[in-house]
Amino acid sequence: MRLSEARRDLYRRLAREQGYKSRAAFKLIEADERYDIIRPGYKVIDFGAAPGGWTQVAAELAGPGGLVVALDISTIRLKEKNVVTLKLDVHDPSVVEKIGKAIGGKADVILSDLAPSVTGVWELDQTKQIDLTLRVLDLAASLLKEDGAVFCKLFEAERSQEVRDEFKRRFRSVRVVKPAASRNASSELYYYCEGLKPAAPQQG
Ligand SMILES: C[S@@+](CC[C@H](N)C(=O)[O-])C[C@H]1O[C@@H](n2cnc3c(N)ncnc32)[C@H](O)[C@@H]1O
Repeated sequence: MRLSEARRDLYRRLAREQGYKSRAAFKLIEADERYDIIRPGYKVIDFGAAPGGWTQVAAELAGPGGLVVALDISTIRLKEKNVVTLKLDVHDPSVVEKIGKAIGGKADVILSDLAPSVTGVWELDQTKQIDLTLRVLDLAASLLKEDGAVFCKLFEAERSQEVRDEFKRRFRSVRVVKPAASRNASSELYYYCEGLKPAAPQQG
């Protein structure tokens, strides 16, 4: 068994033992231990949330005074009281309105673990994942509080520089995170972008 497979198995077993829906939960736990991303009382949006590991972690950290709105094209089945689920595509034009209504204002933190179903054609998968992340950045302009933060996945590819430039343009601080729970061989990285800058005034 390769080391990356052994690690995957270990996190899968840990997730089962601790009642998390996915081993991905440990990526958020690790990043939060390092950067204190979600605090009690926070309003959190979780894009690409199914089956729900990150949502469970976010709901624990935000606590009963907080709220997590979890969105995915797939159904998310969770029992946590401070979670609202939406079965919706991030590209759907009603996303801002529906999340805004569910969250009642703006979010303190946006999470995104969005990834397309893999076709096997790497260039196509990369492009789709990068487009999903750029969509999250656009949604953040409407749904995130000024000074709020985004923690998101980004596939490493030629076009990822384009996204990193956008992170830097929109946030005061951008850090790259490679959680141990993230597969060894995979080219996914996570970015923690803090301090959403105020929107630039419209020209003209
Ligand atoms: C890696 S999984 C997320 C795992 C999740 N963070 C967890 O902890 O369980 C990526 C998710 O992105 C979702 N997704 C992909 N494209 C989407 C889209 N256009 N709109 C909403 N969700 C999408 C997939 O359905 C999938 O559930």
